[in-house]
Amino acid sequence: MQIRIDENWKMSDVDGAIIGISQNFDLSGFPDRLSAVLRQLKENELFQGKIDESYTLTWMNDSEWVELVFIGLGNDEKFTRSKLRAELGDAYRTLKKKKIKTLGLDLRSLKSIYDEKKAVSRLIAETLIMSDYSFDDYKSDRKKHELKSVLLKGFSFDQDSLDEGEILGKSNVFARSLTNMPANALTPTKLAKMASEYGETCGFDVEIKDFEDIVALNMEAFLSVSKGSTEPPKLIVMRYNGNEKSDKRLGLVGKGLTYDSGGLSIKPTASMVNMKDDMGGASAVIGAMGAIAQMGVKTNVTAVVAACENMISGHSYKPGDIISSMGGKSIFIGNTDAEGRLTLVDAVTYIQNHENVDMVLDIATLTGAAIHCLGNDASAILSNDDTFYSIVENAFKKADENQWRMPIFDEYKELIKHEQADLTNSAGSPGTITAGMFIEAFVKDIPWVHIDIAGTAFRDKQKGIFSKGGTGAGVRPLYFLAKKLSE
Ligand code: BES
Ligand code: ZN
Ligand code: ZN
Repeated sequence: MQIRIDENWKMSDVDGAIIGISQNFDLSGFPDRLSAVLRQLKENELFQGKIDESYTLTWMNDSEWVELVFIGLGNDEKFTRSKLRAELGDAYRTLKKKKIKTLGLDLRSLKSIYDEKKAVSRLIAETLIMSDYSFDDYKSDRKKHELKSVLLKGFSFDQDSLDEGEILGKSNVFARSLTNMPANALTPTKLAKMASEYGETCGFDVEIKDFEDIVALNMEAFLSVSKGSTEPPKLIVMRYNGNEKSDKRLGLVGKGLTYDSGGLSIKPTASMVNMKDDMGGASAVIGAMGAIAQMGVKTNVTAVVAACENMISGHSYKPGDIISSMGGKSIFIGNTDAEGRLTLVDAVTYIQNHENVDMVLDIATLTGAAIHCLGNDASAILSNDDTFYSIVENAFKKADENQWRMPIFDEYKELIKHEQADLTNSAGSPGTITAGMFIEAFVKDIPWVHIDIAGTAFRDKQKGIFSKGGTGAGVRPLYFLAKKLSE
């Protein structure tokens, strides 16, 4: 799909069009026939430009027709970028189903209510690319229809931001496609291979550490989770040197369970069906590294994924085991399904001891409790540092992804302790907080942010910018974080 600015596109140039209309819209700039239709729709209360409103019709041009969708932009009070993303995404899918090849987008009505040129330009490119994606690689009758070009007019679009949005949209889609790969196809070995290839394409270095290297590093917590599987674990280390002059380095850690059966604390089937998605954190950091490298962000970043499967066999780790960890702390295994934090703490120890990072962020599909707390529309965050948290908070805002910071009260600190070991991996309620605090116990004296994306990493339904399955949550916020740190 090629996206370009063409202030002069006409109905006869396109076979599909999306026209944004604000409330109390000024019709004087629109051609007579179009303004007459809009006036009638308004009079009949069929479409008034309100937020969440849309109206689809077929527009006749002599013997040709254009599939047309009006989307409501609301007014200065009601308009939000997230709403625009959602409405544009839905309209785009409606038109794609009608097999259009050339789409015209007219946003002249937006200017009077929202005029952030860079944000809107980025949003448009991201949204078109994100809503173009669906996971149909395995369908023999998959639709081969491709929308060839999008023509933009009516807004002072910023070309650099359109280009940035295109990279961010594609990075998000790459992350989604990783998350959506079934676990029989995306093993830890395959994930490592795909990260290596992506690094080569985008411009970051990838080193893969194999079983023997992981043993030599004493990553016992990571290895304990992996033990039950016949697939070997892989430690994926990605490095990007964006600023040779700086000795500062951002560390990213993504949970990379290519499958989580729960282990001997086995999950019920219904909860297991989506557990190929338990590497959404890995998708987020790999996708973000791609965007950071392609945009040439001037920040040094290292990302680490401890990739493995949580399976059942005679070799599996067991409830009641007491294991060690790379950081040296002993851990009581109360539940083998609380495996993510075990892989993460060794990755967090590794990145601090061997990659020289000054701050560390981990991102993971970690707890069902995060879904209970915040549903599917916000990620849960914990942090030991207000300044680092506020940079991450702003990065989420820039990406129009929701997050909510959870408290770390002193009273909770007892919960992760165990009478027979230094820590327990299943401290119980509040589950999202105790899981995050377990990771915090392995963070040395550096700023740390933990992001639980269990609710946001995948969706049951296609809607707006989201396709069914992986969402690529975190890719764009992590990119904006790295970009901010370059300033
Ligand atoms: N991968 C799951 C968390 C999860 C649940 C992600 C639902 C997405 C959707 C994680 O490994 C897990 O099973 N966590 C347990 C922890 C508990 C046993 C302490 C949970 O949340 O139930
Ligand atoms: Zn689990
Ligand atoms: Zn898991």
